[in-house]
Parts: sequence; structure tokens; C-alpha cells
Amino acid sequence: MPYRVRPEAYGEALSEVYDRMYGEIDTPAAVDFLLALAGPGGRAVELGAGTGRLAVPLAEKGLRVQAVEVSEHMLAKLRERDPGGLVDTVRADFTEHVPGENVDLCFIACNTLFMVPERERQIETLRKVAQALGPGGTLVVEVYDPTEFHQLSKPELQARHLAPDELMLDTITVDRVNQVLVEIHTLIRGGSVSTYTELSRYAWPSELDLMARLAGLSMVDRFADWTRSPFTAAAHRHITLYRKAG
Ligand SMILES: C[S@@+](CC[C@H](N)C(=O)[O-])C[C@H]1O[C@@H](n2cnc3c(N)ncnc32)[C@H](O)[C@@H]1O
Repeated sequence: MPYRVRPEAYGEALSEVYDRMYGEIDTPAAVDFLLALAGPGGRAVELGAGTGRLAVPLAEKGLRVQAVEVSEHMLAKLRERDPGGLVDTVRADFTEHVPGENVDLCFIACNTLFMVPERERQIETLRKVAQALGPGGTLVVEVYDPTEFHQLSKPELQARHLAPDELMLDTITVDRVNQVLVEIHTLIRGGSVSTYTELSRYAWPSELDLMARLAGLSMVDRFADWTRSPFTAAAHRHITLYRKAG
């Protein structure tokens, strides 16, 4: 059964709380990691840049950053974070458009590739990235390892405390056949309740490497986090580097 999502819907539902959902996680380490790959003054493209958590500090450190983002709500938050307009924003669906040529670094962080709910469109996105990368350019993908979720036999409930009067309850189920994780976010804010259903079409690391190979990219390195810890069977996510094949 194919899943359909309107990609703008995520930002419409969650832009107000996004920065509190993820906090700063390991943003400084991610920025250092990405900066080192692009080189001084390098040209970078972020797919699904959201509120600019990564794009803005990278631009502040001298990278020329293009931020592709489908949601006007998320872009409004990015602009608040970037009053000087250092980041070049491109409002587009990255499955249809990846800007630039001779790009040094393209990155897609925080499980955003899995937000594309069909494998073929994920491969098409990777193909577009391969076209935009220059010789020696790198794609960085950050996604979760699905092993733990794939084994879920009943819904898992997670709670996040976002602010004194804000609580997010996440109910997670999986469709194992289609490798889709269905996450219902229930947001309780100051007495009002809203829900948003997020879909995530997951892939195992080896499958992702194969998808990348179909798109003309070769895997060159994989880490368990942004501080370059080795990727092991215990890792819950990975950060993987790809370069143009050949
Ligand atoms: C989980 S957030 C990650 C934001 C940011 N990369 C970060 O690491 O904080 C995913 C973002 O990707 C955007 N997005 C999802 N699908 C997209 C698509 N097909 N094209 C462009 N943006 C998309 C969403 O609107 C959202 O802002």
C-alpha cells in the first residue's frame, strides 16, 4: 500500500515546537563535522533544513549554504534565526529539486531522508544529489538504525516534556511489510490538544548503501554519531558519507 504525505504538513503542525522537540541535541558537534568536510568557504546544500538548526551556524562560520525546505512555516523560523540572511533559502520539495552544481557538501540530517515515504523517491532524491555534487563532493546522511523499531509487536509510547505547559506524547507503530514507522505526535499545550501523524520509510544501512549505489554514489564512511564514534551493532543511528561513484 503506497503511503502519501503532503510534505508541508510537518512544518504546519510542528514548526512552533520543533526547536523544543530536539533542543540542541548535538548541534555543535554536527556543525564541526560538516564544516570540516566542506572546507573553508565551501558550498553546501541542506535538504529539509527546517528551522536552520544546522544551516545557520554553518553559514555563520563561513560556508555558503543553500537551505532547501518545503515548509514556509519552518522557513519563517529559519529567518528568525538568521536575521542577516546569511543562508540562501530555497522553498522546494527536495524529491523534485536539488539546487546547485559543483556542490562540495550536501547533507540531510535528523532522519529527514526517511520522511520521503517511498523507496523509489528516496533513490530519486539521492540521484538528484549525485547530479549536484562536484568532483570530490560529499553527501552526509543522518538516519536512525531501524532494527529496534522493526521488532515492535505493539505500540510504543514515548513522552517528551517540551516546556512547563507543553507535553508531547508519541505513539509509535510499524508497518513491517512496507518498512514504515507511523508516529502519532499528540501535543498538549496549555490545555489544548492536537495530533500529527508522521510517516518514516526506513531502510537498513546496507539497503541505504545499495540505494545510494543505484543513484551513482558510493559509501565511504559511517559513524555512530557526529563525534565520529565507530558504528557498531549497538548504534541506534548512523551518519554516513557518500561520494560520487568512480
Ligand atoms: C526532522 S526536520 C529536520 C530539520 C533540520 N534538518 C534539523 O536537522 O534540525 C525535517 C525537515 O524537512 C522538511 N521536509 C520534509 N520533507 C521534505 C521535502 N520532500 N522537501 C523539502 N523539505 C522537506 C520538513 O518540513 C522539516 O522541516
